[in-house]
Amino acid sequence: MRYDRLSAFPDGFLWGGSTSAYQVEGAWDADGKGPSVIDVNGHTKPGIADFTVCSDHYHHVTEDVALFAEMGLKSYRFSIAWTRIVPDGDGKINQAGIDFYHRLIDELLAHGIEPIVTMYHFDLPAALDAKGGWQNRETVAAFDRFAKILFTEYGSKVTYWLTINEQNMMILVGEAIGTVKPGSPKSALYQANHHMMLAQAKAILACHQMLPAAKIGPAPNIALTYPATCDPEDVLAADDVNSIRNWFYLDASVRGIYNTVAWRYLEELGATPQLEDGDMDLLAEAKPDFIAFNYYTSMTVAKPLPSDEPIPGSSDQQLFSGEKDVFLGVRNEHLPHTDFGWEMDPIGFRNTFRALWDRYHLPLLVTENGLGAYDRLENGAVHDTYRINYLRDHIEQIRLAISDGVEVMGYNPWSAIDLVSTHQGVAKRYGFIFVNRDEDDLLDLARYRKDSFYWYRNAIASNGADLG
Ligand code: BG6
Repeated sequence: MRYDRLSAFPDGFLWGGSTSAYQVEGAWDADGKGPSVIDVNGHTKPGIADFTVCSDHYHHVTEDVALFAEMGLKSYRFSIAWTRIVPDGDGKINQAGIDFYHRLIDELLAHGIEPIVTMYHFDLPAALDAKGGWQNRETVAAFDRFAKILFTEYGSKVTYWLTINEQNMMILVGEAIGTVKPGSPKSALYQANHHMMLAQAKAILACHQMLPAAKIGPAPNIALTYPATCDPEDVLAADDVNSIRNWFYLDASVRGIYNTVAWRYLEELGATPQLEDGDMDLLAEAKPDFIAFNYYTSMTVAKPLPSDEPIPGSSDQQLFSGEKDVFLGVRNEHLPHTDFGWEMDPIGFRNTFRALWDRYHLPLLVTENGLGAYDRLENGAVHDTYRINYLRDHIEQIRLAISDGVEVMGYNPWSAIDLVSTHQGVAKRYGFIFVNRDEDDLLDLARYRKDSFYWYRNAIASNGADLG
């Protein structure tokens, strides 16, 4: 539907930017920080940046936040490294780690930037992983304790909390991201998923009890899945994928139930998690205040290939190739794609907003969206018109979604500043601010404002009215 008059972005809309600790901070073992799965899994390949230094944000916090303020950010969504706070996951607290995030949060607040805190973004403490990670039910208690430490420390300063970043991607494509050991059986993955659900529920309850004025929500990656054609079998495959990829996670987080189609899929796989008495009551009791979600691209699927035909493989988190007897991932011929093969679908963003709103009727907060590209620094400038176009197209669709009646709290694109991609190094840049380093050579790590920096500053200053 098109409208003659569009609704404006609401006052107080959280125009922000987003990062995660392990991709931006560096200082991987500084000041008592313990190792995370990312540090020990040896996930990176030769010639691709590892996560030891990243953008060295740990040592550039003041400079970086000043740049965020100059850009006019109203919010900054970042994650707290569990291993800075509790180096081995469930033992001694590391005061230097606690102090670091106080400094960051104080700096943000001094500039009038609202902190949005992700409690856990892919970097599980390695010590917990060695004891079975999320497959071990004891990790639920460790997360509960970690959450309470965060609420006690930062609760007077932070209003918006996100529990777990992209839990669904960790289960569906954890190998590509580097959070899951190759060859992990589905039964183990879905048991881990159940434990993460319990951990999230406990964090939500603790947040509401300890910080009545705070707001907390899940942060999955949600992207509507389209059928390749109007063949009813393709439509059915798309519905299956929507259940398995999207609703399974949000139905549990928001409604406290496991989606029936996804559950039946798990039964077929022999991968249903073991539930203990009281688990489902806990999920039902914990009610999030909003849904945060990451959106990069939609997905298109066809009915599955005949059982005996091999499915082409993919090692990327957004390029789902297919699953035997469930679906076949296909290219959407209506959509262009990025240098890294991700389809660009701004209208899919609006479709996804509508689906989320219709289904859950909770306010929606965008915690990631953006374009990974090969940027070039030339005479101190980066002319990233392609990124501006991507962001403009997506912001226009947010405004249309708001005009549709969807309640949207804010937009925090990935990424506030350049950082290291999950598995494609620093060459795949997303930031408004260029960080001068390459894969192997740290150069001088100097910061440069890209064209998108100035463009976003205008967009924010006009509350989304001037998109250039
Ligand atoms: C999301 C993650 O999946 O996408 C981020 O939450 C990630 O951590 C982002 O960086 C972009 O993906 P990639 O693989 O290009 O870094």
